[in-house]
Amino acid sequence: MIIIKTVHELLKWRSLITTKSIGFTPTMGALHDGHLSLIQQSKKQCDISCVSIFLNPLQFGENEDLDSYPQNINEDIKKIEQVGVDMAFIPTADEIYNKQDSFMVTENILSTRLEGESRPHFFNGVLTVVAKLFNLVQPHSAYFGMKDAQQLILIQKMVQNMKYPITIIPCETIREKNGLAMSSRNQYLNQTQRNNAKVIYSALMYAKELIIGGEKDSQKIKEGMKKIILSMPGFKIDYISIADTNTLLEIEDNISINKETLISLAVFFNDVRLIDNIWI
Ligand code: PAJ
Repeated sequence: MIIIKTVHELLKWRSLITTKSIGFTPTMGALHDGHLSLIQQSKKQCDISCVSIFLNPLQFGENEDLDSYPQNINEDIKKIEQVGVDMAFIPTADEIYNKQDSFMVTENILSTRLEGESRPHFFNGVLTVVAKLFNLVQPHSAYFGMKDAQQLILIQKMVQNMKYPITIIPCETIREKNGLAMSSRNQYLNQTQRNNAKVIYSALMYAKELIIGGEKDSQKIKEGMKKIILSMPGFKIDYISIADTNTLLEIEDNISINKETLISLAVFFNDVRLIDNIWI
């Protein structure tokens, strides 16, 4: 595996690849089996698989966890080498951002909803860094997890709107045995807390069953989900949403299994912010 740290080296590496297909998985490190599943999909579909590990400061708000975000670069390198990554791009922030930068990628509709309401600068940061990484790596396919559903939807829209010749491949959410979605932020939780965090998935499954059973009233479903989550001490709800996957607008009273629906939530568990979702 080649490790590249500078933009200059990366462009040189890229210019030598002319005929082979490139699959790209951007990450912020603290890698777990969810990240590795994206890379494994890339390995199946592309000649060359590459990964970026970059803790992107632009997508963290002032009071968020940039300074404490889990980092373990040596472990990460071992893990991606084991799954057969060909190239890892591991830049410093100075390689990606310049003090004189005055451009950002901003989306004005979908990014204001759900996560965007709670984290107003988040998607500007995500879209700007992903656009820069796409410009540098110039992959044929890029792999994103459905765990971050709104991020995936926005990247798909950016690629369409900005005419990137890149295929976005959505990948299933990988979960712990108890249903908890794998996340770098789970490292903030101890074993008992991780076990107790299973109520998040239970609430999503409860909603799915109600919808399949014909329940149409979203308020009733959300109330039930809230009860399940708050039955575990230490939880606070940021939001629970049942939305149309195209508009990310709430579906109030005519939920149906025939419509593409995203049930998503963000909760604080002992001040750790966790998100999860299911698509129906
Ligand atoms: P990060 O949280 O490191 O996630 C990198 C990729 O892994 C994202 O596409 C995310 O959806 C996916 N992922 C995380 N947990 C997963 C799980 N349990 N199952 C499947 N996929 C999972 O998302 C980011 O980084 C950043 O915002 C980034 C896109 C790299 C831009 O900085």
